[in-house]
Amino acid sequence: MAGKGLEGIVAASTRLSDVKGDVGELIYCGYNINELAGKVSYEEVVHLLHYGHLPNKKELAHLKAKLAEERDLPQGVIDIIQKLPKTTPPMHALRTVVSALGCFDPECDNDSMDSQREKAMRLIARIPIAMAYFHRARQGKTLLPPDHSLSEAANFLYLIDGEKPSAEKENTLDLCYVLHADHGMNASTFSARVTIATLSDMYSAITSAIGTLKGPLHGGANEGVIKMLKEIGSLDKVDAYVQECLAQKKKIMGIGHRVYKTLDPRAPHLKRMAQILSAKLGEPKWIQMSDRIAEIMLTQKHLHANVDFYSATVYYSLDIPTDLFTPIFAIARTSGWTAHVLEQLQDNRLIRPQSEYIGPVGLKVTPIEQR
Ligand SMILES: CC(C)(COP(=O)(O)OP(=O)(O)OC[C@H]1O[C@@H](n2cnc3c(N)ncnc32)[C@H](O)[C@@H]1OP(=O)(O)O)[C@@H](O)C(=O)NCCC(=O)NCCS
Repeated sequence: MAGKGLEGIVAASTRLSDVKGDVGELIYCGYNINELAGKVSYEEVVHLLHYGHLPNKKELAHLKAKLAEERDLPQGVIDIIQKLPKTTPPMHALRTVVSALGCFDPECDNDSMDSQREKAMRLIARIPIAMAYFHRARQGKTLLPPDHSLSEAANFLYLIDGEKPSAEKENTLDLCYVLHADHGMNASTFSARVTIATLSDMYSAITSAIGTLKGPLHGGANEGVIKMLKEIGSLDKVDAYVQECLAQKKKIMGIGHRVYKTLDPRAPHLKRMAQILSAKLGEPKWIQMSDRIAEIMLTQKHLHANVDFYSATVYYSLDIPTDLFTPIFAIARTSGWTAHVLEQLQDNRLIRPQSEYIGPVGLKVTPIEQR
């Protein structure tokens, strides 16, 4: 039988990304993440994942125009967003709205590859708008039309804040998007591939992925990190808090990884951004507390910080509400999920593992009166 949690099992071949857990490397279509980070935009990564190469200027302009053109949400979906209870957690809202987007897309069940590619771009363009609209609607604010001159990162910030972001804020979120775009056969990508492998539809596959990402052992960990930091409160209380968690076998959010047995290569990029932002804000305590937690976990448990650990401080420093941290992960990962769905469809076979039955055998039915 496979290891618990399918550890070590290769579930698919992919050209999209490679997670080298033993050496702590992440590769997108042949490029090491350290080579891409800071040199290419999120839109260039979308092109890389979807077309297999980094775009030239013309291809990039074409992709940006396509994404901008797809941003407008159907009115029916906007109505649903506005009717959701204001208390709905954003990941629940996102899961519901992506499913609704399928209902309003007459091409939802068109299974030609051209249509699937169109829907992939549509989802990459619309998921951020849907999330920003939900965030504004729950505060009773007007929904702004997307600004087609802005990048994906800048437009999202503009729609949630109501003002155009500084170049620094835009570049920071853009780099976060680049770092989160794809990550091998992670749990949500696996969900998306399992769903599309039944020849369901693109919207169902991405809805499955969102439901899977939401959990605290996956994308939900970044929200857990900031909650933990606030709960601890100050640097002098870190040691006691961590020791108490370890004694009670409670997980420290943002630490550990199924595949990386060394440093998660995305963490140093996020740590650097967190350091710069915290220093500018004059609030070094978050990064100081984070560093101390990471140090204890490394020395005592040999576990490293993962992507969620420092991204939490980055988003917090950008003044992004905590419950939008995981949706931002979803926005960026939609590029990877949709690329995996298309890859699965190109060489599809139903994904259907077996289970090992460990229950009783040979039982006889006792008449109901005698049970
Ligand atoms: C990511 C994660 C789910 C990987 O899970 P996994 O591969 O099943 O690893 P395990 O839970 O089997 O962990 C192995 C050991 O390390 C411990 N461990 C792993 N992550 C830990 C954490 N964050 N805090 C405390 N202990 C941890 C486990 O308790 C276990 O210890 P044990 O052998 O004494 O029982 C896990 O590390 C975790 O829950 N991390 C926190 C959530 C998180 O940050 N998720 C985002 C991942 S990108």
